Amino acid sequence: MSSSSPLPRLLLLLLLLVAGPSAAAAAEAYGRPVIGVVSHPGDGAGGRISNGTATSYIAASYVKFVESAGARVVPLVYNEPEERLLEKLNLVNGVLFTGGSVKSGPYFETIKKVFQYVLDKNDAGIPFPLFAQCLGFELVSMIISKDNNILETFSAENQASTLQFPNYSSLEGSVFERFDPDLIKKLSTSCLVMQNHRYGISPKTLRENAALSSFFKILTTSPDENGEVYVSTVQANKYPITCTQWHPEKAIFEFGKPMIPHSEDAVQVTQNFANYFISQARKSPNRPPADKVLDNLIYNYSPTFTGKKSKSFDEVYIFS
Ligand SMILES: *[C@@H]1O[C@H](CO)[C@@H](O)[C@H](O)[C@H]1NC(C)=O
Ligand SMILES: *[C@@H]1O[C@H](CO)[C@@H](O)[C@H](O)[C@H]1NC(C)=O
Repeated sequence: MSSSSPLPRLLLLLLLLVAGPSAAAAAEAYGRPVIGVVSHPGDGAGGRISNGTATSYIAASYVKFVESAGARVVPLVYNEPEERLLEKLNLVNGVLFTGGSVKSGPYFETIKKVFQYVLDKNDAGIPFPLFAQCLGFELVSMIISKDNNILETFSAENQASTLQFPNYSSLEGSVFERFDPDLIKKLSTSCLVMQNHRYGISPKTLRENAALSSFFKILTTSPDENGEVYVSTVQANKYPITCTQWHPEKAIFEFGKPMIPHSEDAVQVTQNFANYFISQARKSPNRPPADKVLDNLIYNYSPTFTGKKSKSFDEVYIFS
């Protein structure tokens, strides 16, 4: 990298000429990344806004999380026809799986398809990141282990928690590499991250499952309200896939639940996660036509203010 002798540069130029513009584009970080976010069944407000069986939603906090790092969102509406899903996947540079509760049916089938798409892209040498949160992490664990009963129960609803780092060497190349050591220390001693789940996976179960332990390395663990320890952050060994049981988006963008940390340190944790995820999406070589992107951006929908009707989310995008 530091070499400025003309030979490597000449070789690079030749390579670019031979490989064409797509390779040239892939060589530099993309400035207009777009992220697909899969919608979850329901209206996000316990049926207070819509009870339609085809209704699905994306909490606006996930959209803002992506936007805060310089990317835009295309909603992957889970119950749209498969051709539409594929068409939209071809417009994005990475995907995000949100939290939620549904672990079966058409929603789970869509998550499986999108997860396979992520693996296929990366297996073909095309960087395509996934950030899966809470339910997203749980579903990915079920898919990889091929065991729909792999999850265990934990008491971590509406709970702020610490992150414990069982192996500092495993942080190399992960999202935590961009954290100030001081912030890492604070994460392990102060409750800076928001948990809101009843299921999870213990370090023991993850390590003893051959498929999961070869796929993921454990970055952090957290104790639930009874001191039971679960895996709270993982990174795939061979893929740009990061999963959290906790909710980075909430510290900046959700104010309904009383336990959500909103301190400057908590905000910084969120910003580091958003910047890391989008930095991975910037490596994607996908350069879709601008008009197609505009036609599919989430800005074609308006968010609904739900904060008065439900404590779950301040704003949601509803698809019906
Ligand atoms: C949805 O159903 C519930 C339970 O029947 C009802 O209380 C609520 O008013 C309904 N919501 C709407 C928007 O119709
Ligand atoms: C810690 O992480 C490193 C890097 O991923 C790994 O090589 C090592 O085996 C891990 N140590 C333990 C005790 O798990």
